[in-house]
Amino acid sequence: MRFGHFDDGKREYVINQPNTPLPWINYLGCEAYFGFISNTAGGYSFYRDARLRRLTRYRYNQAPFDVGGRYLYLRDNDTGEFWSPSWQPTRTKLDQYECRHGMGYTIIGSSHKKIEAWTCYFVPLGETLEIWKFSVTNRRKKPAKLSVFSSIEFCLWDAQDDATNFQRNFSTGQVEVVDEVIYHKTEYRERRNHFAYFACSEKLAGFDTQRDTFLGACRGWDNPAAVERGKSFNSVAHGWAPHGSHHVKVNLKPGESKEIIFVLGYHENPVDQKFDPPDSQTVNKQTVKPVIAKYLDGQSVTAAFEKLRRYWGNLLGIYQVQSPDVHVNRMVNIWNACQCMATFNLSRSASFYESGIGRGLGFRDSNQDLLGFVHMVPCRARERILDLSATQLKTGGAFHQYQPLTKRGNHDLGSNFNDDPHWLIIGVSAYIKETGDWGILDERVQFENEAGSEQPLYEHLRRSFNYTLERLGPHGLPLIGRADWNDCLNLNCFSNTPGQSFQTTTNKDGKVAESVFIAGLFVLAAKELAKIATRRGLKKDADRCLAEAARMEEVILKHGWDGAWFVRAYDDFGKPIGSKVCDEGKIFIESQGMCIMAGVGLKDGKARLALESVNKHLATRHGIVLQQPAFSKYYIHLGEISSYPPGYKENASIFCHNNPWIIIAETMVGDGNRAFDYYTRINPSARENIGEVHRCEPYVFAQMIAGKDAPTHGEAKNSWLTGTAAWTYFTVTQWILGIRTEYDGLRVDPVIPAKWKGFTVTRRFRGNTYVIEVKNPKGKQRGVKKLRVDGKEIAGNLLPACPSRSEPIRVEAVLGG
Ligand code: BGC
Ligand code: NOJ
Repeated sequence: MRFGHFDDGKREYVINQPNTPLPWINYLGCEAYFGFISNTAGGYSFYRDARLRRLTRYRYNQAPFDVGGRYLYLRDNDTGEFWSPSWQPTRTKLDQYECRHGMGYTIIGSSHKKIEAWTCYFVPLGETLEIWKFSVTNRRKKPAKLSVFSSIEFCLWDAQDDATNFQRNFSTGQVEVVDEVIYHKTEYRERRNHFAYFACSEKLAGFDTQRDTFLGACRGWDNPAAVERGKSFNSVAHGWAPHGSHHVKVNLKPGESKEIIFVLGYHENPVDQKFDPPDSQTVNKQTVKPVIAKYLDGQSVTAAFEKLRRYWGNLLGIYQVQSPDVHVNRMVNIWNACQCMATFNLSRSASFYESGIGRGLGFRDSNQDLLGFVHMVPCRARERILDLSATQLKTGGAFHQYQPLTKRGNHDLGSNFNDDPHWLIIGVSAYIKETGDWGILDERVQFENEAGSEQPLYEHLRRSFNYTLERLGPHGLPLIGRADWNDCLNLNCFSNTPGQSFQTTTNKDGKVAESVFIAGLFVLAAKELAKIATRRGLKKDADRCLAEAARMEEVILKHGWDGAWFVRAYDDFGKPIGSKVCDEGKIFIESQGMCIMAGVGLKDGKARLALESVNKHLATRHGIVLQQPAFSKYYIHLGEISSYPPGYKENASIFCHNNPWIIIAETMVGDGNRAFDYYTRINPSARENIGEVHRCEPYVFAQMIAGKDAPTHGEAKNSWLTGTAAWTYFTVTQWILGIRTEYDGLRVDPVIPAKWKGFTVTRRFRGNTYVIEVKNPKGKQRGVKKLRVDGKEIAGNLLPACPSRSEPIRVEAVLGG
């Protein structure tokens, strides 16, 4: 069952019914001002930090699910009937409804009793505000007398405090209303120099700023007293819940339309110019007034919207594919790239599943996210790398997270996630491969954000590498620390205290439990570092990396091979996890994917054998599950993984993030059919027809899909902000389509389904545009046999980086001779 359809020409997903199984969201903003918006206008906005600078309120986990948003009400003043043109919150039956989620904007349109209304929500580039461009048309044969009410609820800035500290917060709220603009200035009188504003382009019939006056006693958002009676109360909030509502009267002749612009924004004043007059308590509005005036003007709004569309066109234009598969085309060309930008901007902070209060930027998360966005925003990727590496510890370890507002490592969570350091090598190598910017390695970066501790970035990578060698366990495998990539495999936390954090509790000495996954990651990272060192002329370093990688490969083959797949780890008792000797959790996905990606077992057939085992034991029609058999009970020595009921999250769900590792491994052994099949199983667009099972948005990947042990097998959760975005994008673009960035150029090495006759990729890379046409006349899955560049045949399959020129470089690649 479908709830909408893709409009690829416009780069939009069109939702045709408001009651989707879950709120289906989109993101507004790409720089400093962000928000998410559901298909019925739910969601919230914030400036930079979803916790500390929250502008509007949203109520997570409510019934109905999606409460709080950018609401409008329309009222027919002849009959008194009122409704929400975005369906929520009144949920009045609409004659027509459509939500178009696009790149950085959402348009919601509907029609009720022949009154048609459209609202376009977006954030102009370079601004810290959002626009709601609303237009209403009378399609009746007689005149319509209407009222429009806007409604947002202000958050008192710190979202955590806002949701808990009521004894104070019910007394701090303050607003001003001047010239159709509502200013929200709670705490401005003391230590804040920022405020929010909500402006309207029309003359107001009234306004409300006190939520409970607007709503009336004992009422909800579906039935506000002001809207019901058709007249605002002109309330001014003192304490309680500051709110913003404009009331505009609109009389329309038959066929007539009216456009109203609402602007919700964030503004900072210089600390010494907060008030006007200076000795008053009145917000100085001089600096914000020109901004408001600009965006209450329809022409500026249209121009800003066009600019936003061009911005996205440019970002997405960097990699475009025309393949025989519509799902590949729209995910690569539009939605997966868009989702990668969301993970760049928001990491794991604010979504329908992430409350915006909890996590900062994860060290491993952000380094992996780079794989998906580095080609779109290389300069910002560079800055991200330098910020991340400044949180690295002198030992080579890393703060597991840092706060985006302060860029400081997060002490509450600390370090000792022993995979973390290697992701820095992976992130930096992806950046250099994309840009050829070797200079980044010479950037002097602090350790632990400490002044005076600066060392070249290259030294950070060396310490990452050494970190593992200094922490080997009884089998010579890397010690796991608090956890490796799998945050829930907590082998040094034996916890029987309810609520105790699995991730920050360490009550074992940590000298026994080892990770085969980290061993694989170490080999992968060491090989990258060797390539980097070679190109820097550091032969000794390169040799050492390769020697240690080879030694670790031997250890993996000796102690990390179980006969038909790779072992996952050794626990605190020195017993294997992910082995045939285990009762449950006999085989895990992570070590299969990571070891093969690192090249372990490629020569001696072990890789293929492991992939067969994955196919046999882990693959389901909805994707590949994390491990089998699922843990049926809580195991104190395994930790959080066994806290989940079977089939959910790390306990044997299809944890989509690591499916691409297997897909890459399949391409490495040359199985294009199977790689593509696995990719398609989790591709949300390919799952659109089973919307009633999948339930999440069909345009973005989800972190997990319930596994075969769950009663809801196939149900997706935690969409948008997940490492799945980057890994699927990287996998399909660089390993299946096979247009792969390397240090010296672009590799053309597709591994595709035999039935594909070919495809074309347009790729901007280091100042040139490549138009790469791949032909597959013999129905092969892999193997470029002929490569022509501008009509001339060249040997091998690498397109060496070359000086930039204005016309595209035309490449023809033929598979299989
Ligand atoms: C989740 C993990 C996540 C971790 C972050 C756990 O509850 O299952 O997926 O990485 O929390 O703290
Ligand atoms: C989500 C976390 O953000 C990520 O860092 C981790 O690797 C996965 N969960 C698996 O536990």
